Amino acid sequence: MEAILLVGGQGTRLRPLTVSTPKPLLPTAGVAFLAHQLARAHAEGVTRIVFATSYRAEMFEAAFGTHAHGVDLAYVSEDEPLGTGGAIRNAARALTCGPDDPVLILNGDILSGHDVRAQVKLHEQADAAVTLHLTRVDDPSRFGCVPTDDQGRVTAFLEKTPHPVTNQINAGCYVFRRSAIDTIPEDEVVSVERETFPSLIASGAVVMGHVESEYWLDVGTPEAFVQGSRDLVLGTLSSPAMPGAPGERLTLAGASVAPGAVVRGGTTVGRNAVIEAGATVIGSVLLDDAHVAEGATVRDSVLGRGARAGHGAVLEGAILGDGAIVGPGNELRHGLRVWPGIELPPTAIRFTPDS
Ligand code: GTP
Repeated sequence: MEAILLVGGQGTRLRPLTVSTPKPLLPTAGVAFLAHQLARAHAEGVTRIVFATSYRAEMFEAAFGTHAHGVDLAYVSEDEPLGTGGAIRNAARALTCGPDDPVLILNGDILSGHDVRAQVKLHEQADAAVTLHLTRVDDPSRFGCVPTDDQGRVTAFLEKTPHPVTNQINAGCYVFRRSAIDTIPEDEVVSVERETFPSLIASGAVVMGHVESEYWLDVGTPEAFVQGSRDLVLGTLSSPAMPGAPGERLTLAGASVAPGAVVRGGTTVGRNAVIEAGATVIGSVLLDDAHVAEGATVRDSVLGRGARAGHGAVLEGAILGDGAIVGPGNELRHGLRVWPGIELPPTAIRFTPDS
């Protein structure tokens, strides 16, 4: 089966991490995020993937070439971002399958343990135009929701509302009949969620929902990105692309963790990163060459390449861009972000309950 992987977004919610690296290429549990998706797609029977690229397009081919994780790869780039629907239409030029064949479409920022083969089977049994993976969430008011009838057919695509009619949401993985992709207008900015799916439903096309609530996470926000990395390291979600056994921490080549430092909770310690004695690092992502000085505490945070947490600094839910330096004694909490290359002088930011 062929697939299209949508990877052209700017990843604005993950700035400043995405200033230099597109979201799908951010190191996650020791490898590029997409490596987990490619390996999983291969395990689910995908043989060829067309990348729909736009933002920093050249970096994808440089990272994966023409074959990786058992899958053949092709690249189609947009001059201007065409949105999710426009990108699918544009990338379909590079598909080789027949008009009735199923094509898997994957958002490039989703970690999912759902059964893709079962989704494809439902699609074929129902002879559907499109079959969407739907997942159930505890608080559907934060998302648009997708009701289905008792045959599993999608009845509507509803915008966010305080009183959603179902807890089923679009999980960002679709099976399209190849010919259904041709109903998307060419060379136009189109959103599948806002335009393509509602218009297919309105036209009477069969749009099915494969409802499955296995592990699912959209890693689009800093909190979710850290959680995804942590879940992979701990083995909550298994991935064939993990470069080590699951455990409390994943330590990459050349990294140094001083005896007496506490490093756990699914932390990744990147290549040549350093954690000094007396430091505590929990559930965090340290990219290559990051440095946590003596006595610093880092929790649920990301340190970009070469970023540094100084002596006794406290980082909780913080994001340091590449090369950012947090001087000794600072306290950064509540999702504070430090831009690449910025240096915070000692004790410049201290958290108090009122601040
Ligand atoms: P934010 O800016 O933080 O919302 O992230 P994003 O740019 O990734 O947008 P979003 O999470 O809505 O995108 C869902 C998926 O579609 C991601 O895998 C994006 O890379 C991809 N995507 C979004 N817009 C485009 C586009 O215009 N072209 C292509 N090729 N992919 C896109």
